[in-house]
Amino acid sequence: MSVQLAVRGLTKRYKTGEGVTGINLEVNKGELVTLLGPSGCGKTTVLRGIGGFLEPDAGEILIEGKRVTQLPPEKRPTSMVFQSYNLWPHMSVYDNLAFGLKIRGMPKADIKSAVSDALRLVRLPGAEKKYPTQLSGGQQQRVALARSLLLKPAVLLLDEPFSALDAKLRHEMREELRDIQTQKGLTMVFVTHDQEEALSLSDRIIVMNHGHIEQIAPPQRIYNEPETLYVAQFIGKMNFFGGGGGRGAYSGRRAVVAEREASLGGRSRWP
Ligand SMILES: Nc1ncnc2c1ncn2[C@@H]1O[C@H](COP(=O)(O)OP(=O)(O)OP(=O)(O)O)[C@@H](O)[C@H]1O
Ligand SMILES: [Mg+2]
Repeated sequence: MSVQLAVRGLTKRYKTGEGVTGINLEVNKGELVTLLGPSGCGKTTVLRGIGGFLEPDAGEILIEGKRVTQLPPEKRPTSMVFQSYNLWPHMSVYDNLAFGLKIRGMPKADIKSAVSDALRLVRLPGAEKKYPTQLSGGQQQRVALARSLLLKPAVLLLDEPFSALDAKLRHEMREELRDIQTQKGLTMVFVTHDQEEALSLSDRIIVMNHGHIEQIAPPQRIYNEPETLYVAQFIGKMNFFGGGGGRGAYSGRRAVVAEREASLGGRSRWP
């Protein structure tokens, strides 16, 4: 398995003193890794650092083995779906989606069919002629996702891309994204503060807390063997048996796993 993305010692402190410190992570080619943590823990900051949308105080970003730390976003082989979807308001949905492909010199007929395919994928077939202002927040979010998928980046960065969707559509889009990701072997970093979303979608989860990483592990291990009390508490309802130390403190966990698995539905990716 080759490492597609490596983040080494990423530190970014805003003037307020908040930010992230000493972030180390690796994402393999074809892997979907989730940054999970409560609001304000630094998920977007890490993603923006990877995409080149902020200048880190320290650290390196490597993509396919190449240092991209000094490159602006457009020179990086990444594409980012922002938490606030940023479509160009003066352009139709078609033009929003076609823009990046035109720049790459893709023939017009190919662009047309690629755009149409992408819109079908995000459940917005035939929306080409609409303008972003004529779409709901969730629809704009899906157009933004389609636009990033069309660019086929080496690493796709997704910042809570489904936050504006209702539960049913959110679930559908999650499954769709996971299918595309595995089929095409895409490498993704997905940000969410939703534990269930992270557990059901990820190959591995990175749990963040106050600007640092608490644990990196596959969903099942995060769930069954949380390395810190914070991870155990954040990951969801469980029984705690007080006293003791280390893993023993979480021995009540297994009792609720079956229930949890049931609540995740049959599509859990856990081995
Ligand atoms: N441009 C900025 N200037 C100053 N502080 C910032 C800036 N951007 C983020 N912060 C602060 O840094 C911390 C991390 O922010 P970040 O946006 O990375 O959090 P997050 O985990 O993405 O949260 P959410 O789930 O709410 O999107 C927060 O405390 C936030 O207030
Ligand atoms: Mg954020």
